[in-house]
Formats: sequence, structure tokens, C-alpha cells
Amino acid sequence: MELDVNVKLKELFSLEGKVILITGAAGGIFSEVSRGMAQVGGRMALCDFNMEGLKAVEDEIQGFGGEAKSFAVDMTSLESIHACVDQVVEAYGRIDVLVNGAGINKRVKLLNGDEETFDRIVAVNLKGVHFLSQEVAKHMKETGGGSVINVTSYNSVMMLGGCGVYGATKSGVAALTRAQAIEWAEFGIRSNAICPGHISTPLTAPLWTDPVRSKFLLDRIAMNRPGEPKDLLGIAILLASDASGYMSGMMYHVDGGCLAGGQPWDI
Ligand SMILES: NC(=O)c1ccc[n+]([C@@H]2O[C@H](COP(=O)([O-])OP(=O)(O)OC[C@H]3O[C@@H](n4cnc5c(N)ncnc54)[C@H](O)[C@@H]3O)[C@@H](O)[C@H]2O)c1
Repeated sequence: MELDVNVKLKELFSLEGKVILITGAAGGIFSEVSRGMAQVGGRMALCDFNMEGLKAVEDEIQGFGGEAKSFAVDMTSLESIHACVDQVVEAYGRIDVLVNGAGINKRVKLLNGDEETFDRIVAVNLKGVHFLSQEVAKHMKETGGGSVINVTSYNSVMMLGGCGVYGATKSGVAALTRAQAIEWAEFGIRSNAICPGHISTPLTAPLWTDPVRSKFLLDRIAMNRPGEPKDLLGIAILLASDASGYMSGMMYHVDGGCLAGGQPWDI
């Protein structure tokens, strides 16, 4: 009896045979998520414009017997997005899961931001996510469905100074997630968003290395530590696997109790 349950659990959460196109795969969070998904059977299409970083992740995955191939993509270029999807489909024949992990931020106050910065953040975080999802969904529709995993942020529901444009793009991704969920359900496509709290990666290094800002953040995290990339792996595997078969259109916060209210006062 115990064995049956374990076998079923393993099947439920397995990514065995699933082709996973993941962007930002050379970055802090999604390199770790790529390694973890490969460990439970995911056939990884690692996508980023940092080819050196991608190769290191690819080598590591192949080193433990997992399956991974690297593909160049520049999320600011529709031409590059289309070429990337074509190459992944040519290599693997299908796409079962899309993880929209690539994202950028430049911290600048609203009175100072210039047009170039605005356009770049919107191009990578929102426009690129929309057009990559559109392209992948066309293939998923043909093969009977799939799972889209978008990535929003603490800044899509709360705000940090200097993150206005970034937060606006991530709120936009939350809206896109709901729209994808309702428009693509008839094709068997689910769409959800992972909403990381304050995770220690190259993107957030300027915050964690500054004593004033890191204290500000830790005071707001109930678990009193920065998140680590591996903290996002469980939700990513859940949303990619059949275990989340009735979950769609939602944002899943992984934030160590940040939105819950952070550290309690001493009474
Ligand atoms: N670190 C956090 O605390 C945090 C919190 C909330 C949300 N997020 C989101 O999680 C995701 C990953 O963040 P991270 O902390 O791992 O960042 P990271 O900077 O370590 O990784 C981002 C990756 O995106 C890639 N990328 C950037 N621009 C690109 C482009 N034009 N084309 C292709 N690839 C491009 C980079 O090369 C990099 O590998 C992002 O979407 C970010 O907004 C992070």
C-alpha cells in the first residue's frame, strides 16, 4: 500500500518526457530551477542571451545524466524569439512547458527614468513574455496543451522605491497570466505565475550587499532570511507537472512570509 502511494506521488509530480522551454536559464533563479527540473525527468531547452552561462548549466545537467540543450534568445527581438521557438521544436518535436524566467530591472526613481530604460524593461519583461508565450501556445495547441509558467514579483503587488517600471511590467505579466488562462483553457493550456519574494541572485545583489537596504528587507521577511533560488524549485515543478492539472490563472507567492506581514513587533 505504502509503495503504491509513493509510486503514484512520483508519477504525479514527474516531469519525465516533458519538453521544457525555459528562459533566463543562465540566471540566478532559473539556472537552479533548470537543474532541478532536469533531475525529475524534464527535457530542458535552456534559453538565454548569455551563452556562456547557458553552456555551464547544460554541461552540469548532462553531467548527472539529464537532458539539456542550449538555445540563444534575445527577448527584446521578435525575430530572435521566433527563431528560438523554431529551433526548440525542431530539436525536441514539441513544447510541453514554457517557463518565462528572463527578466531585468534598473532601479530608478519615477522622476528620473529615461525612455530607453523604460523601453528595455518593458521589452524584456512584458512584450517578450507576451510574444514568446503566443508563439509557444500555437505549438501547444497543436499537441493538445501544456503549462505556461510566468514570473511576476513582490513588486507586482507591493512596491519598493525605484522599481516603478519593473513593477508595472510584472503587474502586466499577472494580467497576461489571467488572460492566457481564460483564452487558452480550451486548448488544454494552463497558465500560472510564480511570484518570488526577495531572493538572493545577481539581480538583487545591490540590495543584499547594502546594509541599510538588506535590514529593510529582512525586517519584512517573517523567516528572517533572503530566499535562495532553490526555494523556487518546488512551485516550478508543481506548476509544470500533472499535479497542478486544475490550477490556472493564479499567482503563487514564495516569499518566506513577506506579504504575511514580515517580522512581528516585540511586545
Ligand atoms: N531575485 C529576486 O529577488 C526576484 C524577485 C522577484 C522576481 N524575480 C524575477 O525572477 C526572474 C529571474 O530573476 P533572477 O534574480 O534570477 O535574475 P538574473 O539577473 O540572475 O537572471 C535573469 C536572466 O535573464 C537573462 N536575460 C536578461 N535579458 C535578456 C534578454 N533580453 N534576452 C534573453 N535573456 C535575457 C539574463 O541573461 C539572466 O540569465 C526575473 O524575471 C525576475 O524579474 C526575481
